[in-house]
Amino acid sequence: MDATSQRLLMCRPTYFAVDYAINPWMDPNAPVDAALAVQQWEQLRQTYLDLGHTVEEITPVPGLPDMVFAANGGTVIDGKAMAVQFRDPQRADEAPAFRAWFEAAGFEMYDPKHVNEGEGDVLLAGDHLLAGTGFRTAHAAHAQLQEVFGYPVITMQLVDPRFYHLDTALTVLDERTVAYLPEAFSPGSQAVLRRLFPDAVHATMADAEVLGLNAVSDGRHVVLPAQATDLAAKLRDRGYETIGVDLSELRKAGGGPKCCTLRLRQGKASK
Ligand code: ARG
Repeated sequence: MDATSQRLLMCRPTYFAVDYAINPWMDPNAPVDAALAVQQWEQLRQTYLDLGHTVEEITPVPGLPDMVFAANGGTVIDGKAMAVQFRDPQRADEAPAFRAWFEAAGFEMYDPKHVNEGEGDVLLAGDHLLAGTGFRTAHAAHAQLQEVFGYPVITMQLVDPRFYHLDTALTVLDERTVAYLPEAFSPGSQAVLRRLFPDAVHATMADAEVLGLNAVSDGRHVVLPAQATDLAAKLRDRGYETIGVDLSELRKAGGGPKCCTLRLRQGKASK
């Protein structure tokens, strides 16, 4: 299996905290070790560098504790960047910060007309854009994504509030294959997934409950939460190399490796 070297955007969790609850993982009364969160994030960043990826960083903004989840900052494909519109007011001010970064980096900008939480809900799988809805990104946003990027958009209906973003329920492994938790999707979406990806890896609830599907694959190496041991074993059986990382502190906000990572897809050649 060939690994693709990726250009990634991350945001250091300098101001990370769990101050509000906008998903079932978040408990503002539970203690969070902010220093450990930074250390764990640095290990994730180092893991990408060791794999030969390029990591760019956006400056964190005080008062935006969830900004570490850079996947929600946009959708970037073929040199086009679609900015985001958050469902929750607590995250609204992240959108212009990410937008300004994309603009300065020279991407062709598009503005969202509906709630759209970026790569948290929008995943490029081969020649299809899989787009989640049900909790965050609005169904109406899917049509705009198709118009802007010109990839057929497949709507994925999410049904379990713990798996509120598509990237908590499904991982793209390479151009042809994904891993997912069937129960996180409506019956119709499960049928679509079976049709599109007959060889997909099915994750267990135990894997999903440690955010094991919130993983980043370069086609050969899969970076995933260390606690997702069943999923890691299945992936190794399929020939992937798995790299477990511990993001226990960020998980208290409902995020894992993929949430911290936005893929910047430059030109047509680099999907
Ligand atoms: N606390 C954040 C939220 O609820 C976590 C975002 C996780 N990001 C992701 N791509 N799944 O919005």
